[in-house]
Amino acid sequence: MTVVHVLYGTESGNAEMVADDIAAAFGDQGYETVTAELTDVEVSDLAAMQIAVFVSSTYGEGGLPETAAPFHDALLTERPDLSGVRFAAFGLGDSIYETFNNAIETIRTALLELGAEQIGTTAKHDAASTTPATELADAWARELLTLMPA
Ligand SMILES: Cc1cc2nc3c(=O)[nH]c(=O)nc-3n(C[C@H](O)[C@H](O)[C@H](O)COP(=O)(O)O)c2cc1C
Repeated sequence: MTVVHVLYGTESGNAEMVADDIAAAFGDQGYETVTAELTDVEVSDLAAMQIAVFVSSTYGEGGLPETAAPFHDALLTERPDLSGVRFAAFGLGDSIYETFNNAIETIRTALLELGAEQIGTTAKHDAASTTPATELADAWARELLTLMPA
């Protein structure tokens, strides 16, 4: 049974809601899911995850939310071999900022550098749009499910 880890970084809770929605979509299709805030995830545990879905908002002019920054720092210092890990990426941001959705790109870049393989496209929710983040999350998760390895 494939276990899907949904790992999120948030400042005000939107990414947590999205993470819960993504986990629910996978749970509905019979996947075992584990949802965790990035503060509670050890970089050393990542290499053993088959599928990890990263969800992160962007803060402070393109930065990572406080709950994701230590994880990203640890990725860069510990540099685990992630060649067996498949990941998907969902960002939350606001297009009024020039640094729209930078944080998920920062996380994505680090994961790819360490050998992880991305599944699907990077979702980028825009808080300035009329689409609720949870609606985009549901549609994106459904698409991602079609790409899951058997
Ligand atoms: C102080 C502040 C700074 C922000 N900076 C950025 C930014 O640089 N780039 C971006 O795309 N969005 C930025 N945002 C928008 C948030 O990423 C967006 O509102 C997101 O939905 C918040 O999700 P969260 O509740 O999970 O933290 C910022 C929001 C606030 C309040």
